[in-house]
Formats: sequence, C-alpha cells, structure tokens
Amino acid sequence: MSLTRRAFLHQTLVVGPVVMALGFEPDRVDAQGGPECTLPSPPPAQRFIPKELKVVPRLSAAEIADSGKETQLKQFRDAVGLVRNLPQTDVISWTKEIAQHCINCAPSNTNNVHYNWQFLTWHRAYLYFLERILRTLSKQDDLRLVYWDWENAKSRVLPEIYAPSGQPLYWDNRGNLSGPWWPLTNELVDVQPLLAIPDFKDFGGTATQNNPRPAAYLGPHANVHNNFKPGGDMRNLQYSPRDPVFYAHHGNIDRLWTSWVKAGHKNPDFGDAKVYFYDETRTWRYVLMNDLRDESKLGYRYSTLMTPKTPVNQLRQFALQKAGARFKLPSAAAPKITAAAPTPHYLLIQNIRNLDKFPAQITEFGIFVGTPAGGVEAKSAKGYLGLVAEIHSGDHAHQGPLSVALDVTSKLAGVKGDLDLTIAPLDDSGKTTAAAIPLVADKITLIG
Ligand code: C2O
Repeated sequence: MSLTRRAFLHQTLVVGPVVMALGFEPDRVDAQGGPECTLPSPPPAQRFIPKELKVVPRLSAAEIADSGKETQLKQFRDAVGLVRNLPQTDVISWTKEIAQHCINCAPSNTNNVHYNWQFLTWHRAYLYFLERILRTLSKQDDLRLVYWDWENAKSRVLPEIYAPSGQPLYWDNRGNLSGPWWPLTNELVDVQPLLAIPDFKDFGGTATQNNPRPAAYLGPHANVHNNFKPGGDMRNLQYSPRDPVFYAHHGNIDRLWTSWVKAGHKNPDFGDAKVYFYDETRTWRYVLMNDLRDESKLGYRYSTLMTPKTPVNQLRQFALQKAGARFKLPSAAAPKITAAAPTPHYLLIQNIRNLDKFPAQITEFGIFVGTPAGGVEAKSAKGYLGLVAEIHSGDHAHQGPLSVALDVTSKLAGVKGDLDLTIAPLDDSGKTTAAAIPLVADKITLIG
C-alpha cells in the first residue's frame, strides 16, 4: 500500500458499528475501498429541504454549444474544472462525487440505488447537489447542468462539448466511439415504451429491491452506458461518474422522469424514504424523496421535454396470462394487435429470471417470438422484438432480474393466443451467441 493511500485511509474512519447505530444511513465504504469508493464518516445527517427561489432551464449539450451561449458554456466548463481540481480528500471533490455513487452501487450494498425507487430520486438529488457545488464554487448562481438529449435523432453521438481533450469535460478513459452502435440507433434510445408505462412502480420501482427492477434503469439508460468502449468508465456502472458525460446522460434520464410526469402520470408518495449526500457546505444531508418529486423546487426545468406518441389517457394495459413458460395474449387486446397496429403497442417484461443460463460476461440479450439459432444477427432475425441489457459493475454482471419496455408495434402482427417468448445472449456486434431459450419472467404487460 502506498504512503498516500495509507495517509488517506487514516483520515477515513471505517466504522461499521456506528453505521449500524445510525440505522438507515448508507455504508460509507465499499469492500473494494480506494478513495473513489470511500467517504469519511460524518455526524448524523441533517435534513435538507429544497426550496430554490429561481427556476432556470437546464439546456441540452447541443443548445449550450450554440452561438450566443459561449459565456454560459465557458462558465459550465470552468465550474466542472474547479470541482475536478479539488483535493481528493475534500468531500465535494470529483473523487468523492464518484465515491458517493460507487458506495451506493457496490456489489456488497443490499440497497443498491439502481434496483429500487431510488433509481430516479437518488440520481436526481446526486445531480442537484453537484449543481449546487458547481454554482457555489463558480459563484454563478444561475449555472445549471446540461443534458444529452440522445432520444433526438440529431444527438446520437457524443455531444461535441465533451470531445476535445485538454478541457474539463474531457475524459481519457472514454475511448473512441466508433463501435457497431455509434451513432446510437433509434431502438437503443427509444423512450416511447417508457413514457407509456402507466404506474410509477413499474417505471421507477418500489421501496423493495427488484420488486420489480425499474424499467427506467433498462432501455436507453443501460444502452447508452453499454455503448461506450469496453473498458471505458461509462461502461462500468460503479465508476461511470468518473466521466463528465455521465452527468449529461443522467440529466436525460432525469428529464425522462420529468417528461413521464408531465405526460400525465403520477408520482407516488415516497413516505419518509430518504437519500443522502454532502451539500456544497460539506454537510452530510438527507433529503426526503417526496421533496424531490417537483424539480422546480430544485431550481431547474428542462428546456424541452419528451412527448409520448399516444396521449397517456388513451393507453390501456393488459397483463398477459401465464401458462408455464408461455404467455397468452389477452383476448381483449389480441384483435388490436393482429391488425396492422394503428397505434403503438408496448410490451413491458418484468424481472427476467433466467439470465443465469448464459455466460456471466454477456450483458446484452435479444427477445424474440420463436427460436432463432446461434450466430444470427438479432435485429434481422425472424420474431425479433428488442433488446435488454445489463450494465457491468466492477467485474460482475447478472446481478438480478432485468425489466424492459419494448416497442412491439407491428412486430406482433399475426400472433394470436399463445406467445412463445424467447431470449438469446448477444455479442458486441448484436449476434446471438447461442440458440434462444424460453423466456422466464415474473410478469408481462401489453400497453397500447
Ligand atoms: Cu448510477 Cu447510470 O448510473
């Protein structure tokens, strides 16, 4: 162990019993340790109640790059540079930003913020406290984070403000984004199936881990992480906040949540559920998740929103009946879907249970009706419905069931009654690495 590391650990109290005594506060050290996964042990958290006086738009990365926005862009870049230059022991440094995320998604953490209703709320607060730190350090109270609107067909490559080296938005372990999925395809970043999900518990999860796994964690969220270079930090869930583009990606996930609400869906009552962060004064805080439901209280709105293709009050949902490994289309929905579907249809598949049948390093899977062989290109295979992908974290994948919402408009045309859904592992080029096997899932719902 190096001297620096020793000195660092010396300042960092690793106190299991105290953490236990505080009850619900998260562990502040991960077994992997290291400055990017360790936080000092503070006194009990104080409540933080967001009530910003002014609502300022968060712009897209493309909008802030427009002519006329040079000053705003420079202020944003410089502010990120200020955080990145803080000493790593400072609890609001870039290193400790990474640590707050790392400990909350460590393999040892039974309350991983990605697998329950903290997925949207925790990341909203994470961005908000970073925004407050940027505002304070730069003395620019109107400074807001930016978002990467990858659902927009014009924004399917890395936003240009992040690309040049030698500036605070650059990250060297990002890699060259020229793999098979760049530019990102429509399918990878399709937000429509998510915007259509009627209930928050399905969209954003519940208080209980994987009950179900939130659909918003999958789809575009996972696909954007996964389409960075293998070995690049964005592709490793636990350490992805090392890359400044992480915050723009999550800005868009946050905007997806805002858009889902503005489309007419309802947020739940989160009761006394809390999330924990250091604020810009370096005070350890908790925020009630109920205080995070309305982003205007956090002082921002989005310059534009995502809009559902079908008004949400016209959507209906039908649970498919399960018969062994097969699912039966509900008769009320079947006629609509067998005709050339005039309106979009989405399939919400919750908690896929048989991913352990596949090699552990596989993160992407194709979902089909029928049984494609190994070695075929998934998206051109007969019966292809869509993709579901886990994100590697540390060195492990398959950390539980996956849920996914897919656009199956016209893809199910002609299918009546029983639906033989299958799943097959995919390689990085999108080919099946083995023949598909019957899909095992807790629940499947048709929305349309
Ligand atoms: Cu906390 Cu996209 O991950």
